[in-house]
Amino acid sequence: MVIPPEQPLSPQAYAFLANLVHERSRIQLGPDRQALLAGRLGQRLRTLGLAGYEDYCRLLESAQGEEEVGSLIDLVSTNHTHFFREAEHFTILANRVLPRLAERRGPSDRPLQIWSAASSSGEEPYTLAIVLAEFARQRPHVTWQVHASDISRRMLDRCRSGIYEAEKVAVPDEQLLRRYFLRGFGEREGFYRVRPELRRLVHVHHINLFQPDYPLPAGLDVIFCRNVMIYFDQPSRQELLDRLVAMLAPGGALFVGHAESLLGLRHGLRAEWPSVYLRPE
Ligand SMILES: C[S@@+](CC[C@H](N)C(=O)[O-])C[C@H]1O[C@@H](n2cnc3c(N)ncnc32)[C@H](O)[C@@H]1O
Repeated sequence: MVIPPEQPLSPQAYAFLANLVHERSRIQLGPDRQALLAGRLGQRLRTLGLAGYEDYCRLLESAQGEEEVGSLIDLVSTNHTHFFREAEHFTILANRVLPRLAERRGPSDRPLQIWSAASSSGEEPYTLAIVLAEFARQRPHVTWQVHASDISRRMLDRCRSGIYEAEKVAVPDEQLLRRYFLRGFGEREGFYRVRPELRRLVHVHHINLFQPDYPLPAGLDVIFCRNVMIYFDQPSRQELLDRLVAMLAPGGALFVGHAESLLGLRHGLRAEWPSVYLRPE
């Protein structure tokens, strides 16, 4: 049965869905998102062949519903991202943060550990990988690994593939494009793929930022956690921030989105540059 798009989502069904999304991801859906959710769910119900929102809620509660919770979170979350987004961050990383980290390193130290904590479809971790690779070109003693993670398995699949529409691959110069991307031909015309040498250094993990443990090495050198905290309530932001700080090595750097001030949150970090914080040594 096809659901007419104008079918209203009852307040009870909306409350159930918003609670479930919050419980699993901490994403907060205010009352103003009801129409948006109804619109986005309409298509999902058609795909699943369900008759109405109540049936959808029952599916989510059932033993088979677990996987669908992921799709629901995907429907409500914003995955917008692009290469070199908030470009000043990458300049600060290359010119300020990495030189300090490199200076302290010995020849047998483990690779620098960089985490893109809400990586979406991969543009942020691959931008980090490009910056790291460029930095290490002149400094053979600097080895590194990028960890990319997100709650959305759909986005992580895109990240793993490393394939992007050519017009969306906005890197600062042609040389970087040639050095780090392969141009698609034939069926892949109009797309670029991140070169395998770079993809190999980007480790992709499925991580919900509120799961009990993160499967990552302790003492990370750099964490990018950008444009995700804005979707959480204040207690959840504090909880997340405490965990990110605990994951940072002394002297490590935390980058948050330009629109995400840590104002009103406790952290013990030093605000060093706009939206960049250092853990004291
Ligand atoms: C707007 S994108 C940010 C992408 C990138 N960091 C940037 O700034 O361009 C937000 C991402 O956060 C992810 N996300 C939302 N809640 C999450 C959670 N609880 N744990 C992990 N990732 C989450 C979403 O799936 C989405 O891909």
